[in-house]
Amino acid sequence: MTDTTSNLSLNDHLSKSRLSGPSETGAGKDRAAAWRLLNRYTQSVSLLKHALSVEACARAYGEQRAAELGLAPDEARSLVETYAITGLLHDFDYEKHPSPEEHPWVGNRILTEQGWPEEVRHAILAHADYTHTPRVSHLDKVLFACDELAGFLTANALVKPTKSIHDVNVPSVLKKMKDKAFARGVNREDIVGGAADLGVDLPDHVAFCLAAMQRNAEALGLAGTAAPL
Ligand SMILES: [Fe+2]
Ligand SMILES: [Fe+2]
Repeated sequence: MTDTTSNLSLNDHLSKSRLSGPSETGAGKDRAAAWRLLNRYTQSVSLLKHALSVEACARAYGEQRAAELGLAPDEARSLVETYAITGLLHDFDYEKHPSPEEHPWVGNRILTEQGWPEEVRHAILAHADYTHTPRVSHLDKVLFACDELAGFLTANALVKPTKSIHDVNVPSVLKKMKDKAFARGVNREDIVGGAADLGVDLPDHVAFCLAAMQRNAEALGLAGTAAPL
């Protein structure tokens, strides 16, 4: 997790959609259950935004994957939901258990107890290098490739006068990646290495995730605060 944002003006937007309720144990392991679980463990608006932005990118890669595999509609929906859930839940334990000794281990234990799919749990373990969990599946690689980049794209949007993701473009993102003073908490090596491991050229990866976040700008609170000129 890279917490690059602290835009509290988004608080209202997110708190309205914040859910609470009983344990999901035994309930369907769908996106709604993942959102409830995330919200039970996470108060930070920036961390919720991070989860939503990684979800948007992972979902887009899931849709691309389903199309490439020629999946039937039901299978495609299931695959896409798995990718989305993985993005949404990958840091759900981070606020309460941020240390490398606990994150994402504690989260993995909770997900195991609740019966979340193995492929989701494996990808989540593998997004943290220090777990030494190999990134094998396409989903493993997607999550790692999107995690830091989503935070970096958010940071790129928040320095725009409009704070709009629509005002971010690929060349400026690539340029900012070389600016060590900008969003210094974001690990550039993870972004570059993640794209390479996924088999996508870096500019294409940036463009793909940027487009995914632009399509979800409202939900991410990145639709802009000022009208474009
Ligand atoms: Fe993390
Ligand atoms: Fe993260």
